[in-house]
Amino acid sequence: MKALIPAAGYGTRFLPATKTVPKEMLPIGAKPAIQLIVEEALAAGVEEVVIVTSPDKPSIQAHFAAAPVWRARCAKKPEIDAELAHLEEIGRRIRWVYQTEQKGLGHAVLQAAEVLQAEKEPVLVLLGDALVSGEAPSAAMTEISRAHGGASVVGLEEVPLERVSRYGIVRPAEQRADDERVYRLADLVEKPAPEVAPSRLAIAGRYLLDPAVFGLLASQTPGVGGEIQLTDAIRRLLAAKEVYGYRYPGTRHDIGNPAGYLKALQAFS
Ligand code: G1P
Repeated sequence: MKALIPAAGYGTRFLPATKTVPKEMLPIGAKPAIQLIVEEALAAGVEEVVIVTSPDKPSIQAHFAAAPVWRARCAKKPEIDAELAHLEEIGRRIRWVYQTEQKGLGHAVLQAAEVLQAEKEPVLVLLGDALVSGEAPSAAMTEISRAHGGASVVGLEEVPLERVSRYGIVRPAEQRADDERVYRLADLVEKPAPEVAPSRLAIAGRYLLDPAVFGLLASQTPGVGGEIQLTDAIRRLLAAKEVYGYRYPGTRHDIGNPAGYLKALQAFS
């Protein structure tokens, strides 16, 4: 299984800190947030992670690069050296793709099409600014997909009605009788007004997507905000294939803004 982490956004909600430190590199203890996200993917059985980033954010790639100078400095500190060795091992499983224009989440995901569209299995997509504390959703989503013949699964959380317009919102068709957290989806809509939102179940930073989504993104016209929306492509995928939702038990933290980041720090402390 392969994973994709879109991490190319400018992080404008977190300026001035993000002038020089990409939001994905903000520390959660001794590790930057994106390392925790890569580790979540690997723990779910992923062999290779594709990170879509921007040439303006070189520190993300530098973090995962081999660091012989640091290894030499820490040679007499076995615990730290082990962390650095582990990081290098992770780094060997990462491929880098660049997004040079900011045209939306769907456009960022599309940048990895060449690398991922020939995949036979669904691709795990983890948003680079969404950390989940508590049970990690990726492993459970992989199991739900397998139980449904390799179908796509989107991670969900319930949000208050006044906040639905900030998210992709799903219309559940039915709940699975043996697991009330799993829904077959009937529709998805990006950032609906509260009056027309089909539910309060919001797409929450994790997806397991049929690789057919890459072909759909290639022909996706701009949606809400004039951006190429991933939600719109999944909506078209739904016309041909089953898509499930998983209301995962963990808590998502949007580290792209200071308040969300501080809550993440508390949750992981
Ligand atoms: C993106 C997605 C949206 C999703 C949200 C949180 O929105 O487009 O469907 O609900 O992430 O995972 P953004 O936060 O980029 O506006």
